[in-house]
Amino acid sequence: MFGRARTGLLKRFNLLGRGCVAAAMLGMMVVGAPGQQAVLNVMPLPSNAQMRDGALSVDANFSVALTGYSEARLERAVTRFRQELARQTGLVWKREAPAVAKTEATKTETAKAASGTPAASGATLTVHTEHASAAIQELGENESYTLEVSASGATLTAETPLGTMHGLQTFLQLVAVTPQGFAAPAVTIQDKPRFPWRGLMIDSGRHFMPMEILKRNIDGLEAVKMNVFHWHLSENQGFRIESKKFPRLQELGSDGLYYTQEEVRELIEYARDRGIRVVPEFDVPGHSTAWLVGYPELGSGPGPYEIERKWGIFDPAFDPTNEKTYKFLNEFFGEMAKLFPDHFFHVGGDEVNGKEWDANPKIQSFIKANALQNDAGLQAYFNKKLQAIIAKHGKSMVGWDEVLTPDLPKDIVIQSWRGQDSLAAAAKQGFRGILSNGYYLDLGWSAARHYAVDPTSGAAATLAPVESARILGGESCMWSEYVNAENVDSRIWPRNAAIAERLWSPQSVTDVASMYARMDAESARLEWLGLTHRTYYRQMLQRIAGHLATPQEVAALRELADVLEPVKDYAREQSATNEPTSGTALNRVVDAVALESGAARRFNELVDKYLAAGCKDDDSANELRAQLIRWRDNDPAIESLAQKSFLVKEVVPVSQDLATLGKIGVFAMDYLILGSQPPAAWRTDQSALLTDVSKPKAQLLLVPVAGVQKLVSATGGATSCGVK
Ligand code: ACM
Repeated sequence: MFGRARTGLLKRFNLLGRGCVAAAMLGMMVVGAPGQQAVLNVMPLPSNAQMRDGALSVDANFSVALTGYSEARLERAVTRFRQELARQTGLVWKREAPAVAKTEATKTETAKAASGTPAASGATLTVHTEHASAAIQELGENESYTLEVSASGATLTAETPLGTMHGLQTFLQLVAVTPQGFAAPAVTIQDKPRFPWRGLMIDSGRHFMPMEILKRNIDGLEAVKMNVFHWHLSENQGFRIESKKFPRLQELGSDGLYYTQEEVRELIEYARDRGIRVVPEFDVPGHSTAWLVGYPELGSGPGPYEIERKWGIFDPAFDPTNEKTYKFLNEFFGEMAKLFPDHFFHVGGDEVNGKEWDANPKIQSFIKANALQNDAGLQAYFNKKLQAIIAKHGKSMVGWDEVLTPDLPKDIVIQSWRGQDSLAAAAKQGFRGILSNGYYLDLGWSAARHYAVDPTSGAAATLAPVESARILGGESCMWSEYVNAENVDSRIWPRNAAIAERLWSPQSVTDVASMYARMDAESARLEWLGLTHRTYYRQMLQRIAGHLATPQEVAALRELADVLEPVKDYAREQSATNEPTSGTALNRVVDAVALESGAARRFNELVDKYLAAGCKDDDSANELRAQLIRWRDNDPAIESLAQKSFLVKEVVPVSQDLATLGKIGVFAMDYLILGSQPPAAWRTDQSALLTDVSKPKAQLLLVPVAGVQKLVSATGGATSCGVK
């Protein structure tokens, strides 16, 4: 029997405590049979977890009972939980979910449950919720839960359905395959979020994102306990929502690609079912070309306006001096305020270049007449009027950094994208804020780099507690210049899980190796939710290779693509040979490769491990050498594939670089393994070659260069490697 009857000693792993066992900080915990190690695959890591010996077996008899407060949403959550668990394990349930067919036992236990003792329902997992959450989900509601798993059963208790749903996700993450079957380790978890606002923004403006993509990403948010979906709905390149009052917005501003109000309601319901608020963003006064196509009289320029096809910052902006602008925004925002129940309403406000304002004499005389001084003063004037409109419709205004002006009412929320300083400045002035600087998923940073960004670090570290408390959390941002329906999941996941952990887990949870171990596990699990962040890759590479490719050629393309990443930050714009537009196909190798290469990370980590062991670790040496040989010998298959596909031809120089890298690496390994000294100029020559191969080509970076450079340097005997 799998550990069911064991009631071993309680092991305390306080994940926060200073003196805690190192293994616990790594999320590595001993469970199951003696000597057997398993990763506590929980991401975000809970605020507190205590491990015990033993595990709860999860087999076809698995059952769930709901006790205490219940509602249809909770019953649907349990149904979904059972479906997800079935997908994760492949098990076929023998019993109906008692939660759905409410048992007598559940009803009679309700009184007991209400007094604080969870019902002993006989189910494998008993779920107890104290009371309802707010009818419209609010910022700062109780999301905490306690999950106790023992060999004989599991109990999940929470104040509100929000906590219950988080606990169900934790349980799903705990279930793992073991030599004896599927099981969850015996553990007591007491968990609550560090920040109340933990969001993801998706830009539906630049590239339209169909409903099913948004839904599966919302499933992903639920899995990692994020609770805000920020929906960027209007851009220069597209106005993406149906207005019944101003239908020319979507009719002329969207190329027919927009969400109907019925779809919007459906998505809001879908998100609410998963404990996620939906905050809409309508970006004004800039980023507004697509609005002005249908309503040019509201613009500051002469018009006519056309949907923008290129990327960048553009001149069109609403005319803040025209009373019709406010009448229009009042009516439109009123319509949207009714459609979106959330208390927060985002009005953008970013990147107004002021060119249309500067070129319009009427606007310039308005600035003078009203002593507004300049364009920034004009935008502050606009923001004040906008804030009054938003407040009139019962909402709190959210805006990007640029809306921050000291005399705005303090209920507005600043979303900081240009730097952490503005977040701290906002908090000092009494405004609430959320951090997005450092969480831009489109910039291609590693998960570790995002993970290191803390909303209360940098300038915010010196805030007084009352100011710091105004920092509500953060949001990752998926801007969509270079993502479309096909690859967007891969640009969000799995890195978004690292940001989710930063926003949920205690500030002291910072171990990068543990984060990657759990992120990799979560990445695999997210696929059961229908996310395509891994499956898209094989399909895109197959398309790039084409139908004439041999299996060896496809394998070679994968070997190459596995260690490439797109150029970082905004280098893709800067290095484009043809100006990209919304009509540009995203079918190149740069669109297919991951933004963070797992294979390259593992290679670079293996190099570190090998060097840390003084080059005396034979297993690592063999693995590194074998990998480097594969890279050295990979190019001929790519050269032949390039004859068949223009999409491969583009990466031939990168493939040649990989061959060079492999060759240098194999030589370096041979010196290190044999303990012999290379000729005097060798290291200098190789380092020059490595500088060459580290230069981007076809907008791609060869990520293992860093590791190979370390191997080359080590041949100099600066470490304990080199001459033996
Ligand atoms: C932004 O990235 N312009 C908010």
